[in-house]
Amino acid sequence: MILVLMGPPGAGKGTQAARLAADMSIPQVSTGDLLREARRDGSDIGKRAAGYMDAGTLVPDDVVIALIERRLEQGDCKPGAILDGFPRTVAQAVQLDDMLERGQRQVGAVISIMVNEDEIVERILGRLTCGQCGAVFHRLIKPPAVAGQCDVCEGGVSSRSDDNEDAIRTRLQTYTNQTAPVLDYYGGAGRLEKVDGTGGMDDVFERIQDALSVA
Ligand code: AP5
Repeated sequence: MILVLMGPPGAGKGTQAARLAADMSIPQVSTGDLLREARRDGSDIGKRAAGYMDAGTLVPDDVVIALIERRLEQGDCKPGAILDGFPRTVAQAVQLDDMLERGQRQVGAVISIMVNEDEIVERILGRLTCGQCGAVFHRLIKPPAVAGQCDVCEGGVSSRSDDNEDAIRTRLQTYTNQTAPVLDYYGGAGRLEKVDGTGGMDDVFERIQDALSVA
């Protein structure tokens, strides 16, 4: 199944996508992670994306669509994938439908995780991310077992370069202006399930599973 996980920055898309991937045995495909990997590699795509990401604005559609198309063609995505942070514009959603249709596939479900703005800011300012494998922690709610070290790969954890108050405000504005219309795109086609993203991570996971069982 191709599952699209949507929600504002800090809503818990990455956290829940990782759990769903383990539970459903299909890969988590995060455009944010793919772009951060491209930056670490020093590739042209990474260099082109850096300024947009640090400012909290969207990387141009053509760059992200090419990345996702290449990723979905890989063998591990044949049984399905959990798309985390893609699509983020209506143009990306239309292109995704076209690309899947060419391979006789389709989006199976769209889950939108909803969290209010104050909680989003608190979550993002407390987030720690592994620079090596991308695992996500939180200083208070989910700290790594050893301070400064990733539980998964023992890499160093730190705040992302776009996890500061200015960039967060821009990311929230970008979400409202460019990504919220994607909810109408899927809602109109009857493919959207909205899930309350507040409360514990286990509670949110259960709500997503309930939503998927009726999708
Ligand atoms: P991306 O990496 O996708 O960032 P984002 O959408 O802003 O989302 P986040 O990663 O900030 O949050 P999340 O919802 O995954 O939350 P998380 O699980 O980490 O994109 C970064 C940038 O790349 C964009 O700004 C853009 O420039 C570019 N980009 C990416 N995709 C693009 C696209 N399609 N088109 C164009 N440009 C694109 O959780 C956050 C924190 O909260 C963590 O610390 C976590 O531990 C904690 N937490 C999670 N759940 C809970 C809970 N239930 N209770 C308490 N704390 C929780």
